[in-house]
Amino acid sequence: MGFSPPSLSFILFLFHFLSTISSSHFCAPDQSLSLLQFKESFSISSSASELCHHPKTESWKEGTDCCLWDGVTCDLETGHVTGLDLSCSMLYGTLHSNSTLFSLHHLQKLDLSDNDFNSSHISSRFGQFSNLTLLNLNYLDFAGQVPSEISHLSKLVSLDLSRNYDLSLQPICFDKLVQNLTKLRQLDLGSVNMSLVEPNSLTNLSSSLSSLSLGDCGLQGKFPGNIFLLPNLESLDLIFNDGLTGSFPSSNLSNVLSRLDLSNTRISVYLENDLISNLKLLEYMSLSESNIIRSDLALLGNLTRLTYLDLSGNNFGGEIPSSLGNLVQLRSLYLYSNKFVGQVPDSWGSLIHLLDLDLSDNPLVGPVHSQINTLSNLKSLALSDNLFNVTIPSFLYALPSLYYLDLHNNNLIGNISEFQHNSLTYLDLSNNHLHGTIPSSIFKQENLEALILASNSKLTGEISSSICKLRFLQVLDLSNNSLSGSTPPCLGNFSNILSVLHLGMNNLQGAIPSTFSKDNSLEYLNLNGNELQGKISSSIINCTMLEVLDLGNNKIEDTFPYFLETLPHLQILILKSNKLQGFVKGRTTYNSFSELQIFDISDNDFRGPLPTGFLNCLEAMMASDQNMIYMNATNYSRYVYSIEMTWKGVEIEFPKIQSTIRVLDLSNNNFTEEIPKVIGKLKALQQLNLSHNSLAGYIQSSLGILTNLESLDLSSNLLTGRIPMQLGVLTFLAILNLSHNQLEGPIPSGKQFNTFNASSFEGNLGLCGFQVLKECYGDEAPSLPPSSFDEGDDSTLVGDGFGWKAVTIGYGCGFVFGVASGYVVFRTKKPSWFFRMVEDKWNLKSKKTKKNVGRYGARGN
Ligand SMILES: *[C@@H]1O[C@H](CO)[C@@H](O)[C@H](O)[C@H]1NC(C)=O
Ligand SMILES: *[C@@H]1O[C@H](CO)[C@@H](O)[C@H](O)[C@H]1NC(C)=O
Ligand SMILES: *[C@@H]1O[C@H](CO)[C@@H](O)[C@H](O)[C@H]1NC(C)=O
Ligand SMILES: *[C@@H]1O[C@H](CO)[C@@H](O)[C@H](O)[C@H]1NC(C)=O
Ligand SMILES: *[C@@H]1O[C@H](CO)[C@@H](O)[C@H](O)[C@H]1NC(C)=O
Ligand SMILES: *[C@@H]1O[C@H](CO)[C@@H](O)[C@H](O)[C@H]1NC(C)=O
Ligand SMILES: *[C@@H]1O[C@H](CO)[C@@H](O)[C@H](O)[C@H]1NC(C)=O
Ligand SMILES: *[C@@H]1O[C@H](CO)[C@@H](O)[C@H](O)[C@H]1NC(C)=O
Ligand SMILES: *[C@@H]1O[C@H](CO)[C@@H](O)[C@H](O)[C@H]1NC(C)=O
Ligand SMILES: *[C@@H]1O[C@H](CO)[C@@H](O)[C@H](O)[C@H]1NC(C)=O
Ligand SMILES: *[C@@H]1O[C@H](CO)[C@@H](O)[C@H](O)[C@H]1NC(C)=O
Repeated sequence: MGFSPPSLSFILFLFHFLSTISSSHFCAPDQSLSLLQFKESFSISSSASELCHHPKTESWKEGTDCCLWDGVTCDLETGHVTGLDLSCSMLYGTLHSNSTLFSLHHLQKLDLSDNDFNSSHISSRFGQFSNLTLLNLNYLDFAGQVPSEISHLSKLVSLDLSRNYDLSLQPICFDKLVQNLTKLRQLDLGSVNMSLVEPNSLTNLSSSLSSLSLGDCGLQGKFPGNIFLLPNLESLDLIFNDGLTGSFPSSNLSNVLSRLDLSNTRISVYLENDLISNLKLLEYMSLSESNIIRSDLALLGNLTRLTYLDLSGNNFGGEIPSSLGNLVQLRSLYLYSNKFVGQVPDSWGSLIHLLDLDLSDNPLVGPVHSQINTLSNLKSLALSDNLFNVTIPSFLYALPSLYYLDLHNNNLIGNISEFQHNSLTYLDLSNNHLHGTIPSSIFKQENLEALILASNSKLTGEISSSICKLRFLQVLDLSNNSLSGSTPPCLGNFSNILSVLHLGMNNLQGAIPSTFSKDNSLEYLNLNGNELQGKISSSIINCTMLEVLDLGNNKIEDTFPYFLETLPHLQILILKSNKLQGFVKGRTTYNSFSELQIFDISDNDFRGPLPTGFLNCLEAMMASDQNMIYMNATNYSRYVYSIEMTWKGVEIEFPKIQSTIRVLDLSNNNFTEEIPKVIGKLKALQQLNLSHNSLAGYIQSSLGILTNLESLDLSSNLLTGRIPMQLGVLTFLAILNLSHNQLEGPIPSGKQFNTFNASSFEGNLGLCGFQVLKECYGDEAPSLPPSSFDEGDDSTLVGDGFGWKAVTIGYGCGFVFGVASGYVVFRTKKPSWFFRMVEDKWNLKSKKTKKNVGRYGARGN
């Protein structure tokens, strides 16, 4: 019994001895065992790593030399593991304090970055790796607090704890770290919550520091200027600390600074001679949405080493300084979202290395060609939201590497010419005054992912079926043009990643594509406003991801397409203004239309009773959604949905749709019989339009439960009896139309009802009240509601104890307008910088959702 420890050390000794004499590198067995146990404590999951994928531990096999394993480095003499690099190894699981990782005492370099440790805490045992010089715990989903034992690692040269979004660093721990880690050269704490740490405590950071990254750390207060005195500081990144103030020193700077990012901070920067002469080595400068004061931008022309310059979002006015043409090393230049006027300076012809240029969202005017036609290396060009009123500069068509071209929202004129190369992946020329046909070279861009030529109104010709060669297309938006001919039948099945197909507002004829095949990814299909005929293709049921289907304003002759009720994610269904006819009978499946938020079948020839069966299933209309986000494609989230809709009596184009919207429009048909009580279940409805039908009977008092209603139109029906007093409590009601029915008795008074005038009530038998300038007498005084609220199953409608009194709280006209105006966003397409900002912020800030960021997430780097 007592012999086993000595015999183990003897074996170890033998190993050591053998490995020394054979000078091979056998792994010490205890190390091997520790590694294998560590391996066993995690599972391999492809979603656990995001930036790269190398499942290194898969090569680790018992009985082989661990020094040869992937990611493992040993001391050749001792067989001790001294280095472990498991970055991107797809490890998923919890890292406990009892992990055998901590038996690898001799580690000098440890890199575990980009795995998923499932909100583990960083164990204090990390402090025991006394010889560690490199520790990389980037992007591991660590949570909790950084243990102060990390400060024992006094030999650390490089420490990276960034992108663990639920990790925080306490002041005491940080102070110890500053005191003890005197050899640090790289420190990256990006996205670690340091909101309690005094910026002043950064003062004593090691003078050997060459790179300091504290982006998005929640730092608050005055940033100590003497940081910049650190003699070896080459890179400083403080992006997204909008609580950080103080000023950037103009003199006595570390004169080796090559990278500076003060974006989205409030640190004042005085761009003046002193500063510029101290920044001569700067290669990367990002001052996006920062606090630049008293500046002479022309001075930037002296920073001739710059390869990256971002001055976006700063409200700079005046002309773009021509001295920027001196920055001949520039690869990336971002001046979007400023107020630069005039033209692109001539001098820019010298920026021949430029790859990425974004001047979006400035009031710049053309012409552009004479200046930048030497920029033949451009890969990405965004000039959207400017005032360019010229033809598209011809040199753009000849750029051999151009993959991203966004010129939307200008006043560009003329034709679209042929592209001479096939490098495009993104093309947005929407909202201009372009005319002519779509050049055939566009259909040869075989990597094209988004083609957006919307709202040029004069693009003509037919949609060539060669478009179906673009197999990587995710977004195709040719809406609001004058395209004619038929829709190529192949549009239904040419790409199984197409998310958005918007051909609305053209002159397309013929049939709706009927070839939608299984496994397609379509989320948005809009063919509104064409001259399409025939039936609604049942192949649409293959579009199981569909969220928006808009076939309104065509010449479709069909009966109600029941098969649509099986689409599980359908949120918007618009079939208005067609020639649909017949009865609309209730649901045929369970869960039918349960996510529908907008249901518009107005202006058709439907008849018979209202579809009670469907109304009973519209679950999304029964519950309000408080999320104030815009509906967008899931697979291509930068594409925000738009629709045309009648909103409070006016046909409006909604360029964005808030996810809170709830609309039911069955108007202009010939629905008969009574309004069913189940309408009262649709409590989230904001707009209800049943006008111009042949509805009879009383107005249901249960409508009074629809407390979110902003617009109610029951006009031009055959409704009789009194207006239920319950409607008087609809506090958001801004539009009411009960005209042209056979209503009688007193009009409810108070609250919103006092704001409606006679036109809301005209053409009825005998309504009285001050709104119609007719006094009510005796027995006409407000009394019981016509159809008693207590009868029948109305009680289920009020469910959850939602009493009448409660809803009157919150009444106020101003509020009504506030709520209502939120839906109507005027047609301003988002500038491209917005997407980049959102995506960059997403990259930096978002939780590890492991959601596909898309190809443009890292654009510009
Ligand atoms: C991940 O964390 C969750 C929540 O704490 C826990 O339920 C789950 O078991 C953990 N999974 C692993 C593999 O550790
Ligand atoms: C390590 O600790 C965890 C949690 O305390 C426990 O579930 C696990 O069994 C332990 N593993 C070993 C090998 O002791
Ligand atoms: C740490 O490094 C020193 C000096 O190289 C060495 O003597 C010592 O054994 C190392 N400690 C461990 C635990 O590897
Ligand atoms: C500093 O590091 C040494 C070991 O290198 C350790 O003994 C000491 O406790 C550390 N001090 C602090 C404040 O962490
Ligand atoms: C950071 O920590 C502070 C203090 O613990 C907390 O109030 C704050 O909400 C945290 N910030 C974030 C973004 O989690
Ligand atoms: C920096 O270090 C000096 C000397 O050790 C000390 O006096 C001073 O208080 C420290 N400053 C901060 C802000 O911690
Ligand atoms: C900037 O360059 C101009 C002309 O090249 C020169 O006259 C000026 O002195 C330079 N300024 C600084 C601060 O280097
Ligand atoms: C373009 O805009 C400029 C400045 O507003 C104007 O002077 C010029 O006439 C416009 N050109 C065309 C072709 O409209
Ligand atoms: C659905 O797609 C498949 C091919 O993927 C096709 O055979 C089938 O007919 C389609 N369904 C309908 C209803 O058109
Ligand atoms: C797009 O949708 C996602 C998920 O619903 C949401 O988080 C995001 O904010 C939306 N984007 C915009 C621009 O509204
Ligand atoms: C509506 O339907 C009713 C009953 O079917 C019928 O009498 C009436 O003529 C129809 N009205 C219109 C405008 O078609």
